[in-house]
Amino acid sequence: MTKEEKEQVLMRVFSPMAPIKSQDLFFGRSLQLDSVCDAINEQGQHAILYGERGVGKTSLGNIMATHLTHVYPVKVTCARDDDFRSLWYRALTNVPMATTTDGIGFNSTQKTEYSTLADSLTNYEELMPAHIEHILKPVLANRMLFVFDEFDNISKNSTREQFADLIKSLSDNCDNITIVIIGISDNVVNLIGNHQSLERCLKQIKMPRMNSEELGGIIDNGLNALNLKITNDVRKKVIDFSMGFPHYTHLLCKYGCKVAINDEKPNYSASHFKEATKLAIENVQEQIKDGYRKATFSSAQESQWEQVLFACAKSEADEYNCFTIKEISNQFSELSGKPLVKVNITHNLGKLCQSDRGEILEKITVDGSVKYRFSNPLSKAYVNLKMYED
Ligand SMILES: Nc1ncnc2c1ncn2[C@@H]1O[C@H](COP(=O)(O)OP(=O)(O)OP(=O)(O)O)[C@@H](O)[C@H]1O
Ligand SMILES: [Mg+2]
Repeated sequence: MTKEEKEQVLMRVFSPMAPIKSQDLFFGRSLQLDSVCDAINEQGQHAILYGERGVGKTSLGNIMATHLTHVYPVKVTCARDDDFRSLWYRALTNVPMATTTDGIGFNSTQKTEYSTLADSLTNYEELMPAHIEHILKPVLANRMLFVFDEFDNISKNSTREQFADLIKSLSDNCDNITIVIIGISDNVVNLIGNHQSLERCLKQIKMPRMNSEELGGIIDNGLNALNLKITNDVRKKVIDFSMGFPHYTHLLCKYGCKVAINDEKPNYSASHFKEATKLAIENVQEQIKDGYRKATFSSAQESQWEQVLFACAKSEADEYNCFTIKEISNQFSELSGKPLVKVNITHNLGKLCQSDRGEILEKITVDGSVKYRFSNPLSKAYVNLKMYED
């Protein structure tokens, strides 16, 4: 393979910024994929796929649609100002419809007009869940799958309510239509609300972070395609620094392999990994970089912001990714070699929860005790990379 050919392959196999669209680049997730496909195949079942930011929800949404060849998939990405009508308008513009009418008189030819189901929306001034069933009637002979991704973006509670009502009534009345909702959330209630009536018909599927084996699949496939080898030590480092987030696996592999290819070396080695962390820090998702910049910005030379964040990243977290002030203080003393006064650390942590410091942390109070966590779990992995670079 020439260098140019390798660069082409590199772009395809490692895509830190784009969800996976093709089956051959999709690794692991067999449990979640089976679970969602079972729900789609089962009459009257719908599904809700939820999990942390960046764990691969959209990718799974793309793959499940290609996996099931007997369904007609329609995917809509929800935005902040969307409501029930605008979401269904976008969904229905993807459902084509042909209407044939007879002409008038002898020898007249039939006329076929092509449109989409979205045109039917004009019949309803205020769109209600029951109307959707009516609108979908002309296509009910087909198996249809409607995926609504980034459902957490929806700001109106009434829109969530309408989706809950729709799912319930489709489950009772329309066997051929399945709705899959995807969004960032710790739990289903935050995403769609608390509805006892949905318990039976809405399958809850949690997307966990990817495990080492799954992340290893991404690494090995990409390196094989590039005809590169990787030492066990570097492979482990890529997995550890990814912390279960495939974004970082793609990022560290993309830049590590790029450097190895430029060096014309057959291996992704430890020195390439060092280069890769620098490049990954520069090329990480803009939102994460921006949050870190805001959190650590200071005009004073002896600023402690970075050290406090390093201490947070090193602190042992509980099952909810939270850590205590005591743990942060201990880590801070260890890192800086000097003790930190409790009032100072509390002040710093409080500021890091505010918007002018990028809200990089959030404060959680459980049973009266205060804990902190990174608001975006991907930021913690970023802080670890910064610490390594330091
Ligand atoms: N199963 C997988 N195999 C290989 N790469 C994956 C897989 N799942 C996700 N990725 C990669 O991980 C990154 C994040 O994936 P994706 O956008 O699907 O996550 P997400 O959970 O939808 O993120 P967000 O919460 O920001 O919407 C992308 O670079 C994508 O290519
Ligand atoms: Mg997504």
